[in-house]
Amino acid sequence: MIRPQLQEFMRRMDQKSVAIIPAAREATRSNDTQYRFRQDSDFYYLTGFEEPDAIAVIAPASPHKYTLFVRPRDPEQEIWVGRRAGVEGAKSEFGAEESFPVAEFETRLQDILDGAEKLYYRLGAYSDLDDAIIKKIASMRALNRKPIHPPSTIVDPATIVHEMRVLKSTEEIELMQRAADIAAEAHVEAMKAVRPGMKEYEVEALIEQIFRRAGAAGPSYTSIVGAGANATVLHYINNDGELRDGELLLVDAGAEYKGYASDITRTFPINGRYSKAQREIYDLVLETQMACVEMVRPGVTHDEIKSHSVEMLTAGMVKLGLLKGEPAELIKEEKYKQFYMHGLGHMLGIDVHDVGLYYHDQESRALEAGVVMTVEPGIYIAPDTKDIPEQYLGIGVRIEDDVLCTANGPRVLTTGVPKDASEIEALMAK
Ligand code: GLY
Ligand code: MN
Ligand code: MN
Repeated sequence: MIRPQLQEFMRRMDQKSVAIIPAAREATRSNDTQYRFRQDSDFYYLTGFEEPDAIAVIAPASPHKYTLFVRPRDPEQEIWVGRRAGVEGAKSEFGAEESFPVAEFETRLQDILDGAEKLYYRLGAYSDLDDAIIKKIASMRALNRKPIHPPSTIVDPATIVHEMRVLKSTEEIELMQRAADIAAEAHVEAMKAVRPGMKEYEVEALIEQIFRRAGAAGPSYTSIVGAGANATVLHYINNDGELRDGELLLVDAGAEYKGYASDITRTFPINGRYSKAQREIYDLVLETQMACVEMVRPGVTHDEIKSHSVEMLTAGMVKLGLLKGEPAELIKEEKYKQFYMHGLGHMLGIDVHDVGLYYHDQESRALEAGVVMTVEPGIYIAPDTKDIPEQYLGIGVRIEDDVLCTANGPRVLTTGVPKDASEIEALMAK
């Protein structure tokens, strides 16, 4: 059985074409040790095959529509690094109609390309594979007095696969809900455990322990655990600072479950109570975040939601004295960017920053039912900011949820962790 994603990909391909889709390769961490392998997202989506070094060949008009080139079984290697599906397993377990050892790919390349008018292949990822394919096409062109026909066009398969990945199936949404539930549980446990005097890495360890114990592969990106002014550094990942009484802790952490990401941020008080100044910033971000979540509906564009967040945050920052002037003018001059310098969110799926176009020509993309996106406005006030009320210095707040767009409006996947300030305080007081 060919999996539904691959069937649909074939249906959308030009029929007189072939696609060559490589798996990811192992990456060296240091000397002779590797990072834990993670499959290429497009390859995983189409094939479900989780081994490195494979190549999928998809040819809708051929008698064998789906061929997998894989690492063959190897008793010696399998003792050291684990079982391989091998050529037989590629067919019996992964639905390939034909399978060969990956070492045979280049010798079979001419047969693969011959007769296909179009080649779907993503140039630029693996230069050796790019080179082999381009050279083969060139050598086939030179055989023009024989009945040999290389493809005349090379198209990026992402034009099909990435657009498919934007709209999540029921099965994918179930996996994403599980990824969200695991991350939500970890955030709740972090809120309950945090005390002044702890280190950021203790919170990171607690969260990632919960991910792994729940069967997640681990975090879907490097966890951000930033206390005090560290929360104003957008991609802070050192996580080695101390949690101080009276400061906030920003935790941005999500789990990867069966290939799908979650991505949650919460910002909470280390001693369990928000100060007045912290609460003012927090409530402004929360009110903005909730208004933007409500906008996640079919037909609304990414830019419209972002603009709404800019309007609400700018108006609020003027009220608090962080910005001075007319909100409309401050927006035009992008003055809000001093404190809100990132996007409102991003699509979410197999990649945490998921694929799919955000603009069609110059037009911001409209949401559709089946899109999952994050909504994550924030305010970041660097400790050395001049000319603002000093009670706000060093405060960083972001609130991030994962939201499925449905025909009936937003469905928040990450409701398992509170975001209302009073609810967080009540949870922390337990
Ligand atoms: N943690 C990455 C992001 O929120 O986009
Ligand atoms: Mn995010
Ligand atoms: Mn995040």
